[in-house]
Amino acid sequence: MELKLKLYRYEPQSGQESYQSVSVPYEEGMTFLSALQKVKEEIDPTLSFRAFCRAGICGTCAVLIDGFPKLACREQVLPYVLSGKEVVIEPLDKFKVIKDLVAEGDEVIKRMKELKLWVKEREKNIPIEPKLARELEKSADCILCFACHSYCPQVLEKEYAGPLLFAKIYRLFKDPRDAMGSERLGEALATNLYHCLSCNKCNNACPKEVEPATLIRELMLSPEGVS
Ligand code: SF4
Ligand code: SF4
Ligand code: FES
Repeated sequence: MELKLKLYRYEPQSGQESYQSVSVPYEEGMTFLSALQKVKEEIDPTLSFRAFCRAGICGTCAVLIDGFPKLACREQVLPYVLSGKEVVIEPLDKFKVIKDLVAEGDEVIKRMKELKLWVKEREKNIPIEPKLARELEKSADCILCFACHSYCPQVLEKEYAGPLLFAKIYRLFKDPRDAMGSERLGEALATNLYHCLSCNKCNNACPKEVEPATLIRELMLSPEGVS
C-alpha cells in the first residue's frame, strides 16, 4: 500500500507556486508528519514544513489536509491510503506562506501582544475554585496551532480578532486572577466579537477541543456583554 500526496510548493525567491505529486510506501502507524519526513529524507530534501514535538503539543505542524486544517503529527494516513485517492497537502489558509507548507502566524501573535493576552496579576494572590479551574482548563489548552484562524471565514474582516484570540480573551475574562477583569470584554467588543457568524467551523477545526465558537457565545451572553 502507498500514500499518494499532492504537495503544495512555493519558492519565495522566484514566487513560483506548483503542486508536486509523490508516493510514499505505507508503514504501520504512519502519520502525515512521518510521511512528509519520509518525502524530505528519501525523495526531495528541498521540501519545507514545520514540526517539533511530534505529539500534538507544540502546534507547529498544522497544515491543510484535503482543505481541512489538521495537525500533521496527529493525523493517521491509513484511511487516506485505503481510499486510494491522492491527498492534497497545503499550508494553512489566510496566512502568509514563507515556503512550501510553512505559514507565518506573526500577524496573529502581534495582535496578541497588542491586546496583552496574558494574565495581568493582581497584587493579592487569589485562590481559584476547582470548578472554575476546570472551566478555564479548556480554553487554556490552546496550543497556538492557528487551525481555527485558518478555517474561520470571518477573519478576512481586518478588525475581527478571530477564534483564537477570542478564546484567549475568554480565558482571561473568566480568570479572577487577571487584574484587567471586565476590560477584557471591552477588548472583545472592540475587536468585533458580535461579527462572529456562529458557524462552528473553528470548533470543528480545533485539535484540542478548545471550542472557540462556544466560548465566543459565552462571552456574548455574559451579562456585561449583552448590549
Ligand atoms: S464560529 Fe465565529 S469564530 Fe468560529 S469560525 Fe465561525 S465566524 Fe469564525
Ligand atoms: S483554539 Fe484550537 S485550533 Fe485555535 S489555535 Fe488554539 S488549539 Fe489551535
Ligand atoms: S509537531 Fe508538535 S503539534 Fe505536531
